[in-house]
Amino acid sequence: MTEKKGKYYITTPIYYPSSNLHIGHTYCTVMADAMARFKRLCGYDVHFLTGTDEHGQKLQEAAEKNGMTPQAYVDNVVEGIKELWKTMEISYDDFIRTTEPRHKERVQKIFMKIYEKGDIYKGEYEGMYCTPCESFWTESQLANGNCPDCGRPVEKAKEEAYFFRLSKYQQRLIDLFENTPEFLQPESRRNEMLSFVKQGLEDLCISRSTFNWGIPVPIDEKHVIYVWLDALSNYITALGYPDDPELYDKYWPADVHLVGKEIVRFHSVIWPAMLMAMDVPLPKQVLGHGWLLLEGGKMSKSKGNVVDPVKLIERYGIDSLKYFLLREYTFGQDGVYTNEVMLNRMNYDLANDLGNLVSRTVSMIEKYCEGIVPESKVDGEHDDELKAIAVGAAAKVEANMDKFSFNIALEEIWVLIRRTNKYIDETSPWVLAKDPKNKERLDTVMHNLAECLRIVSVLVTPFMHTTSKEIRKQLGIWFADVEWQDAFTFDMMAGEKVKKGNAIFPRLDIEKELAELEAMTESAAVSQEDKAESSVEMENKPLELKPEIEFGDFDKIDFRVGTILEAEKHPNADKLLVFKIKMGTEIRQVISGVAESFKPEEAVGRQVVVVANLKPRALRGLESKGMLLFADNGDRCEFVTTTAPDGEIVS
Ligand code: MSP
Repeated sequence: MTEKKGKYYITTPIYYPSSNLHIGHTYCTVMADAMARFKRLCGYDVHFLTGTDEHGQKLQEAAEKNGMTPQAYVDNVVEGIKELWKTMEISYDDFIRTTEPRHKERVQKIFMKIYEKGDIYKGEYEGMYCTPCESFWTESQLANGNCPDCGRPVEKAKEEAYFFRLSKYQQRLIDLFENTPEFLQPESRRNEMLSFVKQGLEDLCISRSTFNWGIPVPIDEKHVIYVWLDALSNYITALGYPDDPELYDKYWPADVHLVGKEIVRFHSVIWPAMLMAMDVPLPKQVLGHGWLLLEGGKMSKSKGNVVDPVKLIERYGIDSLKYFLLREYTFGQDGVYTNEVMLNRMNYDLANDLGNLVSRTVSMIEKYCEGIVPESKVDGEHDDELKAIAVGAAAKVEANMDKFSFNIALEEIWVLIRRTNKYIDETSPWVLAKDPKNKERLDTVMHNLAECLRIVSVLVTPFMHTTSKEIRKQLGIWFADVEWQDAFTFDMMAGEKVKKGNAIFPRLDIEKELAELEAMTESAAVSQEDKAESSVEMENKPLELKPEIEFGDFDKIDFRVGTILEAEKHPNADKLLVFKIKMGTEIRQVISGVAESFKPEEAVGRQVVVVANLKPRALRGLESKGMLLFADNGDRCEFVTTTAPDGEIVS
């Protein structure tokens, strides 16, 4: 038995049940699942929490659009989310829904606790409000006049509201980032948050009275608690805080909150400040991961370009998909998803390297040793090197898992898999088998292969538990529990009866698969278009627009065609791109908050439309002279382009 090592509490964000989840959402959950399985295998008492964040204006609106009550709407989507996790065999220990009574009651208690401490007060909020993000911003926080999180336009808004004294915790947060660097990683995110907090913190508006789909403020039922206070509390309400200490005492503080990069701020600034106000210990770590992007930018339901994990699982199996997600992308960085990259990983790493090793090893033991794993008898060249790699791999995997470097941990396992395949070629068992004098050496080679494969079956367990089981079945060791420390020992096998099964990863015809996947995406896109067209036929509803303007107002704007000569990231702001634009005789600098929509190099050479007579202003230390026009579909900005030559007037 693996000795118990203490507790390990890991969480994913709780997902908005606004629509079905796509492969980008599964990425975080797959990472958390692999880590939870790894820690359990190493002997930790693991608690793995996931769930859904079900309140807020956006969900209320989505339900209304579908003619449903918010509760019925979220119930339906949450069922699909749970089904997805079941299909993917995600090993969570608890699934919290923010609409559950256990959560709602505890959030109200949390509110009262902070209120009684004096850190919640009633005031009036006036600020710039981003409806899609449900966030208020100060003028100085806006990026190019738009929401700094999503880049979309904001509007002035005012309401009576409850506030959390976030500003009071500024120094303690600075100390936290400076004295406990491991609290927030990667380093780039920590630096970003440290400078954000140093710029000064405003008190946080934590209630709304303009919609009612939320948890009522206990002392004032006209208000509902703003989604972030509600959502963040899930990490402790699920453990029973503040009224049922059993799980809370056992698992809190969390060892890691795994979150996407855009919600790092909520988890590393607001959440710790809330906990400080409650005198609750802080989580040990917040880790921000990057996004999976498509070649054309972010995945979005409305564009019909989302990659549906269920379709991929149906076609390739859970383990292939999980392997690809964990092996291909580097934690903390954005990565581009393409069908081709995925299929190549599946063919080269899984079918060729691992699949072949399993089938060659088991076939040869059946052929040369009557299906029984022999003992080691006569050592030969290459054996020592092979054994050293085999028993050394687990420590390397552990070291990389400690850093959440799933891709390198897997690469270390593949070093062993590839070395073992090479060992087969070096020792050429089919040549040894020709002469009975070599029987003892042949037995040793077969023994070593079985041992390496056994070790591989242990090492892959956290990432691909079904594959591990299948390998162990073929090796005749299916009945024994997988123990992580068994990966550190050689020579554990002798006498087991192997049994060849089906190829664990059949080879894929890449061209054919690419065509099939392409057709699937096209039909998804077409069905989205159909929906759009039929809605046009069904209703011709006037758009919701800003107040009407006079022609004279419009005529004041000087639109010009410009050619983008250069584009680069703003040195002081992740969301901004700095463009050099030629407009006829003049070259000037314009800054836009679109860094998340495309890479700088994709912009060069575009013929764009510029508001050329806009008063120049400084954006994070650089001058911006004018403004570019973009079409914004809610997820991504596209340039408004033209084929007209630069300098021309657009009217
Ligand atoms: N409900 C909030 C989280 C509250 S946690 C207390 C939320 N929900 S979300 O559904 O919009 O996003 C959940 C997570 O999915 C985020 O961490 C986000 O980064 C992640 N992803 C959404 N799209 C993604 C990709 N394309 N790629 C990787 N992760 C992505 O935010």
